[in-house]
Amino acid sequence: DTKVWRIDQITKETDQAIEEASALLEQNQVVAFPTETVYGLGANAKEADAVDKIFRAKGRPSDNPLIVHIADRNQVDEYVTEVPEVAEKLLAAFTPGPLTLILKSNGTIAENVTAGLPSIGVRIPDHPVAQALLRACRLPLAAPSANKSGRPSPTTAEHVYEDLQGRIAGLLDGGPTGVGVESTVVDCTGVMPIILRPGGVTREQLEEVVGSVMVDPALASAGGDLPEDGAVDKPRAPGMKYTHYAPEAPMWLVDGDPSFMQEQIDVHLQAGDKVGIIASEELAAGLNADHINVCGSRDNLNEVAAHLYDALRSFKKSDVDIILCETFPETGVGHAIMNRLQKAATKKINQF
Ligand code: TXA
Ligand code: MG
Repeated sequence: DTKVWRIDQITKETDQAIEEASALLEQNQVVAFPTETVYGLGANAKEADAVDKIFRAKGRPSDNPLIVHIADRNQVDEYVTEVPEVAEKLLAAFTPGPLTLILKSNGTIAENVTAGLPSIGVRIPDHPVAQALLRACRLPLAAPSANKSGRPSPTTAEHVYEDLQGRIAGLLDGGPTGVGVESTVVDCTGVMPIILRPGGVTREQLEEVVGSVMVDPALASAGGDLPEDGAVDKPRAPGMKYTHYAPEAPMWLVDGDPSFMQEQIDVHLQAGDKVGIIASEELAAGLNADHINVCGSRDNLNEVAAHLYDALRSFKKSDVDIILCETFPETGVGHAIMNRLQKAATKKINQF
């Protein structure tokens, strides 16, 4: 059975929950916990047996490496051979926060965490529950998103419970996470920093601190077509090649004005389909459909990011045959939003 602790705020009274969760981690069990991005499924990163339980609970392919979570900057040196200057600047500017740095591993971490790679992903989460847990157990925690492999990442404890109840020892329920999309993964092992996964820290923010930053060419751009199977470029973050974030019904991205979206809705309704919509409040206001999930305002992409995974999870197989989803501008956190929507979608249609 999965033990659940509810923590609204870190106080003297919640110490006991943190201690219990921490004790489970010390016994090489897996515990889910909130971070500022999404919920993570944590285990002692130094023990291969503990880490193996993460892969089993999620049904995750073993060639997809996990991020190592630590409490603060001082612990980075325990796990890497060097911290290059660029990485040092990024650590100073964005941590704790939604950023993961790929650095050269010194081999301290269990081999199954890095899936045999010579590098490791290091992240310092900015969430009071994650921080309290890391400080209590004094372990580096390997933690992927706490969803069943292939499903949208969890942004509430309910999402975690839905996917993993009975499969994990514990779940710290800290309420909804804030950012809503995962951390930005930046490879700092080469001459130039490279974004391997867009996320909560935007390219624009990174470039303000370290100048020009490259983006892994294997990441599909929302301007283009969906990547074909066997895309030319192999992504450098192994996780980016897998089907991800999949809702229960096929999802099409619809790029166009409200009248275009309405035409698409009507085509499916006339064919007898039950249609689910994910849209901004601006677009939703002009639409006529039964199931509309409003995920925020086009003027506030942070709000869209925060609601995105809940929107993807909100449509059940039994309720809809198809989901039509609006597209968003690829600026700021819009990069991460469109990256996830591209991966979740089966098709994209454009008005222009
Ligand atoms: O916000 C987040 O990053 C969340 C929370 C829980 O911290 N975690 C998360 O983990 O999203 P996960 O496992 O779902 O995604 C980790 C990504 C994968 O795409 C993986 O391939 C990549 O990071 N990654 C991890 N270690 C790597 C390495 N050494 N080299 C390249 N990519 C790596
Ligand atoms: Mg994940």
